[in-house]
Amino acid sequence: MRKLFMSLLLVPTIALAGNVKSPNGNIELKFTIDDGGRPVYEMTYKGREVVKPSHLGLELAKDKHASKGLKETDLMDGFTLKSEKSSTFDETWQPVWGETKDIRNHYNELEATLEQSATKRTILIRFRVYDDGIGFRYEFPQQPELNYFLIKEERSEFAMAGDHKAWWLPGDYDTQEQMTQETKLSEIRNRMRSAVNWGNSSVAVFSETGVQTSLQMKSDDGLYINIHEAACLDYATMHLELVDAQTKALTTKLGGGSNAYTPNPKPSPWPLPAPLTFVSHLTPDATGLKGAMQTPCETPWRTVMVSDDARDMLSNNLILNLNEPCKIEDTSWIHPTKYCGVWWEMIVGKSSWNYTDEFPSIKLDQIDWNKVKPNGRHAANNEKVKRYIDFAAKNGLQEVLVEGWNVGWEDWANMWKRDVFDFVTPYPDFDIKMLNDYAHSKGVKILMHHETSSSSQNYERHIKDAFTLMNKYGYDAVKTGYVGDIIPRGDHHYSQSMNNHYLYVIKEAAKHHIMVNSHEATRPTGLCRTYPNLVGGESARGTEYEAFGGSNPDHTCILPFTRLQGGPMDYTPGIFETKLSTWSSNTSWARITIAGSLALYLTMYSPLQMAADLPENYEKYDDAFQFIRDVACDWDDSKYLEAEPGDYITVARKAKGTDNWFIGGKCDENGHKTAIRLDFLDKGRKYDCTIYADAKDAHYEHNPKAYVITKKVVTAKDVLKLTEAPGGGFAVSLIAK
Ligand code: NOJ
Ligand code: CA
Repeated sequence: MRKLFMSLLLVPTIALAGNVKSPNGNIELKFTIDDGGRPVYEMTYKGREVVKPSHLGLELAKDKHASKGLKETDLMDGFTLKSEKSSTFDETWQPVWGETKDIRNHYNELEATLEQSATKRTILIRFRVYDDGIGFRYEFPQQPELNYFLIKEERSEFAMAGDHKAWWLPGDYDTQEQMTQETKLSEIRNRMRSAVNWGNSSVAVFSETGVQTSLQMKSDDGLYINIHEAACLDYATMHLELVDAQTKALTTKLGGGSNAYTPNPKPSPWPLPAPLTFVSHLTPDATGLKGAMQTPCETPWRTVMVSDDARDMLSNNLILNLNEPCKIEDTSWIHPTKYCGVWWEMIVGKSSWNYTDEFPSIKLDQIDWNKVKPNGRHAANNEKVKRYIDFAAKNGLQEVLVEGWNVGWEDWANMWKRDVFDFVTPYPDFDIKMLNDYAHSKGVKILMHHETSSSSQNYERHIKDAFTLMNKYGYDAVKTGYVGDIIPRGDHHYSQSMNNHYLYVIKEAAKHHIMVNSHEATRPTGLCRTYPNLVGGESARGTEYEAFGGSNPDHTCILPFTRLQGGPMDYTPGIFETKLSTWSSNTSWARITIAGSLALYLTMYSPLQMAADLPENYEKYDDAFQFIRDVACDWDDSKYLEAEPGDYITVARKAKGTDNWFIGGKCDENGHKTAIRLDFLDKGRKYDCTIYADAKDAHYEHNPKAYVITKKVVTAKDVLKLTEAPGGGFAVSLIAK
């Protein structure tokens, strides 16, 4: 009886209701206000539960300025539904770069206006219901009783209908550079401690049951469900915290990490939702608060994508569609780019970013760089950079990233050092004018590097000079980096203030016609639609980890379902010499075959693609490198042919403005067999087909460099039967005759 009473308490009763279906009717969203005045929504897909009745609301913080108009009464309950409006939207738009030429944005919308009469405040909750998912957000119109407020926590719930399998990363305020875990939801708690990569230079996990988005799940009956967010602007990045079935607590202390965190000091004052319910958990700033808001304003969209076909998780454009259209008027300077870089040899430890080993520490304004003793290992020197430029020019790569070109690398990381770089002073062996002139004379550009060491205010202070310097020498793209804990101390990589910093950088860069590729920044939420100069980002465990102990072979079969939902990743693929000890003292090795490495140029969509290995390693396998020379990085069309999270992904893409297609297939440690029907090709047309496949005995560990290249002529009637080795894959080019 007691049990029955408890469960009745947990199910919100329905006082008022609004329903909206997706255009094809597959998804149904119900919105209600329960008898406590709390907003509640639920969601089904083809009649099956995706999100069970779940509350919405925000807890506000008390503040010393309360008397000056800051409100602290929570926006959680006591609401009545003032009005509801439904509408339909259907538009097709063209991205500046992307997986397809056209993107359809078709949804039915429900706008609910809620009044909290006790405080005379009005908020809106807006739902957009697509055929492959929903988005909702809170909107706060300007009004006498709601001008400024502080967010203690957002309490958006996502009650799952079962103990789904989940691909998750430990919730963390500072990093996503972790291996994805694959467990049932109920197993997250026990797995948490071993899931954390404590060695990362900035770790702040906050809960035994906290996970990051984008979170990919699969139900026992084959529904693929993904929770993420779109358009995270002037707001903190959201994590999800699973209500702990054992402790019933919202937050459990975990401890550790370089950046101390404060667990919620008290249990939630609100009735706890049922187990297997996720509750939003925002990233705090240095004060511990989660957001400072000024109306009119809104939260990011919270998204739930769903399908019974895994391929829809990858072709889905819901996150982009929920972002605002492009705000950059002239986009002619934004271009997809293939690049190589003076980079991998530093990552593996063969050469250095820094110029000298002479000093235990340095102060930028106290060193005459022409007088210091060079360490002889500095990679970004004139001679080497010229070699990379020659390599790029010869192989049709448009840019060359050069890291370690500027002074400050001697004590750059984890020193709490505010004035760490000035972003304008080259080391004495890097002749910035000569090298840029040399590159331009060969039709190549140098790709700028701004490692900030997470000293964000220092970067903001120098950014105009830094971008002006770039304009002077003809750089049009910058890779930024945020290694280490954030300075000012106490702030986090994913806080509202840092999210505002990243956006400031993107907007300033746009003014200077500069494209941005941001490493260690917050995970993306589709802002590249609005600011297409944001051409890439890291925000996950990239190829660099192949030199830091390696990543599991299934890693790249998960990232497209998770990290890539918000925007392209600068994964930096293309490692051919996978045993690093063959050319350096690094004993780590990349868990991939050469054919698998080629596949990543298709399966890990990005308009910015690196050929990350050394020129000499590519020269040894020049016939395989031909694929990297040929492959496009901008597309008119993309067709996901097969997909299963953590197992395999096969995609065919049509190169922008051509009739040529490229196909890539990547699999996990188990290998994969596939039969690709080429029926997407133009009927009656012939194509020169080159297949780069794993050899029969290829294996990511024992035999990664065994590949076979086959050439033939094919038509739309052909079927390609291919076998992917364990940790392998394949790549195909189809050039229209
Ligand atoms: C980490 C980045 O991910 C890597 O690409 C870069 O080389 C180093 N930081 C140094 O900035
Ligand atoms: Ca990194």
